[in-house]
Amino acid sequence: MIAVEFADATLALGGRTVLSGISFALGEGEFVGVLGPNGSGKTTLMRAILGLVRPSRGAIQVLGRPAARGSAAIGYVPQVRSTATSRLSGRDVVAAAASGHRWGLPVLGPSARHDVDRVLDLVGATALAARPLADLSGGERQRVLLAQALLGRPRLLLLDEPLISLDPNHQRGVVELVRRVQRALGITVLFSAHELNPLLGALGRVLYLGSGHAALGTVEEVITGPVLSRLYGSEIEVVRLGSRIFVMAGDHDVERDPHRHEDHAHAHHHAGS
Ligand SMILES: Nc1ncnc2c1ncn2[C@@H]1O[C@H](COP(=O)(O)OP(=O)(O)OP(=O)(O)O)[C@@H](O)[C@H]1O
Ligand SMILES: [Mg+2]
Repeated sequence: MIAVEFADATLALGGRTVLSGISFALGEGEFVGVLGPNGSGKTTLMRAILGLVRPSRGAIQVLGRPAARGSAAIGYVPQVRSTATSRLSGRDVVAAAASGHRWGLPVLGPSARHDVDRVLDLVGATALAARPLADLSGGERQRVLLAQALLGRPRLLLLDEPLISLDPNHQRGVVELVRRVQRALGITVLFSAHELNPLLGALGRVLYLGSGHAALGTVEEVITGPVLSRLYGSEIEVVRLGSRIFVMAGDHDVERDPHRHEDHAHAHHHAGS
């Protein structure tokens, strides 16, 4: 079955077109890296799949139905996480989501409790989840948030920039964990990131956004000078060094440059200035 299909879909926010007439289809069980510069529409695309942004033209189908709010078939870890400073334990945060209450300490029935135990075990966070979320490292927190997104057995997982502010080792850890869970459950994953390299071993295809357009394909098909020059609207050169790939405009690396500003999730719109 097709997991996500955009058919000539246009997404506009506040009167500005973010993505213009894009079409693509993702199969069930794919691991797709969603890439593109700041403001290219990665978050907007995920919010559209969730039914939170409606296309002004065209159509979006998710698991055989038009995209609609509140789908239990989709798990989502948003880009900006208000739980980052929570004194609640990881388990309480996951449990709050399981009960449908984001805040306050829930009382769970046996089946919800079982689901919480299941997802924490799935991501190896059972011990971690006893500690306050605020005391966890960025990578550990991502693990708990991934568990939360797996509640209710979704078939599609949307992870919006889970690698922000993680060092390369922890980035690899998060990518490997998501890959393992994705394989174990046979679910579809859309994983957005600023940089391609941490995802190289995991992704099947890349959905690259830029200049209102999208290109979907394997790394070999999409990460090329001609395709990326069109998406960036400027001359791009793709440089391979060993197993790593760099997307260069002149002598500067367009994926890494904005990434430097990403140490604090809230500062991300300063990039490129
Ligand atoms: N509510 C809004 N009204 C108007 N424009 C918006 C709104 N929200 C986002 N935008 C704009 O839409 C564009 C796409 O934003 P989006 O957050 O989807 O990009 P992104 O690829 O996720 O960027 P980043 O890498 O910084 O997370 C940006 O130009 C952004 O400024
Ligand atoms: Mg974003």
